[in-house]
Amino acid sequence: MSAVSFTGRVAVVTGAGGGLGRAHALELASRGAKVVINDLGGDISGENGGTAMADQVVEEIRAAGGEAVSNYDSVATPEGGRSIVQTALDAFGKIDILINNAGNIRNAAFTDLTPTAIDALLAVHVNGAFYVTQPAFTNMRENGYGRIVFTSSAAGLFGSIQQANYAAAKGGVFGLANVVALEGAPHGILANTILPAALSRMGADMNEDQFVGMPTTPAHAEPEMISALVAYLASDANTRSHELYSIARGRYARVFMGVTPGWHVAADEPVATPDDVAAHIDQIRDLDGYSIPGSMNEEFALVR
Ligand code: NAI
Repeated sequence: MSAVSFTGRVAVVTGAGGGLGRAHALELASRGAKVVINDLGGDISGENGGTAMADQVVEEIRAAGGEAVSNYDSVATPEGGRSIVQTALDAFGKIDILINNAGNIRNAAFTDLTPTAIDALLAVHVNGAFYVTQPAFTNMRENGYGRIVFTSSAAGLFGSIQQANYAAAKGGVFGLANVVALEGAPHGILANTILPAALSRMGADMNEDQFVGMPTTPAHAEPEMISALVAYLASDANTRSHELYSIARGRYARVFMGVTPGWHVAADEPVATPDDVAAHIDQIRDLDGYSIPGSMNEEFALVR
């Protein structure tokens, strides 16, 4: 029997009408999950919505013998978030699994980004993750069980040109996921974050400058590659929380935020000057013996 089974589990996948979200939903449903397929339809900028995308995925799941219902609300408002989670409660009585996947993209050079292009991305990625996760977390806490997967991006954590709005939004998702993991821990709620790279309509919005230095040899980029990790993280087989995983071109890897041992100025020594910093910059930057703090408190506890 597979270690990754969702019999009796209820999942919500946002932005599940196409691309990665559809693949995640099909994977969860094929392993027994009852799934809410949320998608407002529309193009990659998030405009021009409709019901067809979500309904089509629901039909696919039902045709394969699974259980699914549609929701067409935007993740980007508190009402939308509540409605998405309520759809799970009304149809299936609870929510065990939330895959925060909905996303939009509007690439431009940093100084060309309009307020609309900035706000639209923060609204869907950051606010959307807040507004769906809050009501989901409330129900999970009542049940003492939850698995939440956030979707960030290598663009957000490592940087990617012409994607400042997208990167800032995805960095926000990472910050949110850290706190949800910490606050969820006492309630059996595990939260992890993925940095995917897969072929979907989003990649079509990239231009050649953005791919400079990337390998050109063929490699796996199927959405199903991402869904394998998402399903694992959403299952009982996963007992870890507060972690980050990258999946790109067939490589699955852990990504982490570390801190170097650094250079310490003792309490009885004079306050450091800029020249002192200059003199110790190599020691400050030295990666040998780095730590991966599990919270702000753990980071500060490292300081002598
Ligand atoms: P996609 O454009 O095919 O899928 C995104 C889905 O979200 C669409 O179906 C869209 O209708 C839906 N959506 C957009 N705004 C929404 C809203 N306000 N409420 C509800 N649904 C909404 O793109 P893809 O590639 O499948 O992206 C899925 C997630 O993965 C996104 O969060 C994206 O930023 C992230 N990602 C994708 C990468 C890739 O290589 N494809 C790389 C890094 C991150």
